[in-house]
Amino acid sequence: MSNRFLLRDALAQFPPYVPGKPPVSAPGLTPYKLSSNENHLAPLPGVPEAVATASALPANYPDPTSAKLVKAIAAHFDVDPAEVVPGAGASEVLSALTNITLEAGTSVVYPWPSFEMYPILASARGAEKRPVDLLSDGRHDFAGLAAAIDDTTRLVLLCSPNNPTGPSITTDELDGFMAEVPENVIVVLDEAYWEFATAAEVVDGVAAFAEYPNLVIARTFSKAHGLAGLRVGFGIADAEIASALRQVIAPFSVSAGAQAAALESLARGDEVMVRAKEVAATRDQFAQDLRDLGFTVPDTQANYVWIALGPEAAVEFEGACAAQAVAIRRLSGGVRVSIGPDEALDRVRKVAAEFAQAARS
Ligand SMILES: Cc1ncc(COP(=O)(O)O)c(C=O)c1O
Repeated sequence: MSNRFLLRDALAQFPPYVPGKPPVSAPGLTPYKLSSNENHLAPLPGVPEAVATASALPANYPDPTSAKLVKAIAAHFDVDPAEVVPGAGASEVLSALTNITLEAGTSVVYPWPSFEMYPILASARGAEKRPVDLLSDGRHDFAGLAAAIDDTTRLVLLCSPNNPTGPSITTDELDGFMAEVPENVIVVLDEAYWEFATAAEVVDGVAAFAEYPNLVIARTFSKAHGLAGLRVGFGIADAEIASALRQVIAPFSVSAGAQAAALESLARGDEVMVRAKEVAATRDQFAQDLRDLGFTVPDTQANYVWIALGPEAAVEFEGACAAQAVAIRRLSGGVRVSIGPDEALDRVRKVAAEFAQAARS
């Protein structure tokens, strides 16, 4: 660390957040970005108009409480408005959750690999990080997670479907786990990709929230609703926790345009779910095609597919996709490919087939 400014020494230890790469252009090919789990579908009708109208007076601050949106989310999920906390994406809600629980001397337990923000947020709060390896099929190791909790633990983060591997948590898994967690330890269920889940046994966090006061649900308009660029998500939490979250979330963090877009999209919730299930059908076919070629692809309930690869193969696979003008995400243990337009997925299929062919010869 340089001596020029009085920055925290701990900054040197923060794991970096590596955003999804933009696509590399290749002659004659439309570039595609399948590296950030974005929604590739056109915005829902009515949403761009709602954003434009709400953003017509950029000199004015937005409603600091997002009152209309809070009311609509509460009605949609049948919870009390006092239990709803909007933020600039689920990221802001997750950050606030670490802010109200963690400090030096405390610990946070989470699965790994999972969403890259978890260790970054833990580092930012000076807490001890307790990552617990996933099982070999990409699922959470609940026995390991429970064993990692001790009396320093203030927060547990769960991710369903898990980013980057894909499996969701089942209702039985969550129930079994919650029985092991002290009732004063906050458990966050990050359901950023919830709408894409199709397996019958997938836990519905909002339903589980009704049973466990220490369970907090994080959801977002970034993925199935396709509003990542506007930055709006929300938490559903016990009113006492929700009130603490409001204390630390920056006022006005959800812009007027984002509030209006989320409201409009929520009103079209049925269309959002239909589109999410279409993405899920494409995902299932894509995952199966890769398995048929011999790749190890865990069950996925999200809008992406994880291909387990060794470090060298992962670099080669990423490079071969880039040569096809398709950006994918390489992480430790493999690559993650977001579900995108057919043309983009076909190029990845082609790369995968060439890999499978090379491995056979
Ligand atoms: C598991 C998970 N949680 C939360 C987020 C944050 O999403 P946002 O801040 O856009 O709502 C992401 C984004 O990729 C994610 O993958």
